[in-house]
Amino acid sequence: MTLILGFEDYLPQAEKLALCLSIPIKQVNLHQFPDGETKITLPEKLPKNVIICRSLNQPNDKLIELIITASAARDQGVEHITLVAPYLCYMRQDKAFNSGEAISQKIIGKLLSEYFDSVITIDPHLHRIKSLTEAIPNKAAITLHASHAISTFLQQKFTQPIIIGPDEESKQWVKAIAAPHQWRFTIATKQRYSDTEVDVSFSESDLNTNTKLNLAGQDIIIVDDIASTGKTLEQAVIQIKQQNPKSISVIVTHAFFVDSAIKQLNSLGVNNIWSSDSIPHPSNAFSIIDTVATQLKIGEAS
Ligand code: R5P
Repeated sequence: MTLILGFEDYLPQAEKLALCLSIPIKQVNLHQFPDGETKITLPEKLPKNVIICRSLNQPNDKLIELIITASAARDQGVEHITLVAPYLCYMRQDKAFNSGEAISQKIIGKLLSEYFDSVITIDPHLHRIKSLTEAIPNKAAITLHASHAISTFLQQKFTQPIIIGPDEESKQWVKAIAAPHQWRFTIATKQRYSDTEVDVSFSESDLNTNTKLNLAGQDIIIVDDIASTGKTLEQAVIQIKQQNPKSISVIVTHAFFVDSAIKQLNSLGVNNIWSSDSIPHPSNAFSIIDTVATQLKIGEAS
């Protein structure tokens, strides 16, 4: 038997996963002591296989809690622990850009590989490496993609949208979302000067047909993996608006939208702001949990 262990901050998603897999779920209880430490209480009588489902946004406390949970589960005799972390933290810093900078991707990846037998995540932010196993030296570090869920969601909303990615990196997602429906798509080039200063400029060519792309009167969808400050999306919206589209929507996998990001996008007249439930956020509009469940079922069958 396999049991899902969930945490309060990601419980609806963990419950959905349990439902999809028809397996039980129990909650790990956290108690914050006044000094900032956490008491972690696991359910008793854990089975041999456990899936811990918790997304790793705002990761610093969560990582400690997950390590304690995994260790306590092993102490109870659990033999196989899968971590389902739809958002995986610390994947961006994959090299030291300046001397003295820690390469957090490698450090956190190694830590996770020590405590978990397998790790499943959605579109981790990997820049210079091709495979998640390079970051998490684990036989079973699995990257899943949100593109199918995004594509299916958008199909219910639009007939012929134009899909736009704000930078070169987004081409993989934009293409995967547009291709099943023959939607037109393009990507922009992005220059980032600081955390909050970004320039975005567009190619006016449809990368599906290599013809000129006219955005006037069209439904435009800007797709990205992460919205953090929202500045990338904001600059993309400003550029696109100049071409008088019918509507502009933004859709992301991992929704941080820190500070006034949502307010800024709304003030620019963005029609829809949507995200997956990889990170709980008011913009959550579709789920990536089915994608995780499918992978887990495949793993079970093989
Ligand atoms: C960059 O490589 C990513 O794909 C996102 O475009 C970026 O992280 C978004 O950040 P922000 O919302 O702060 O512009």
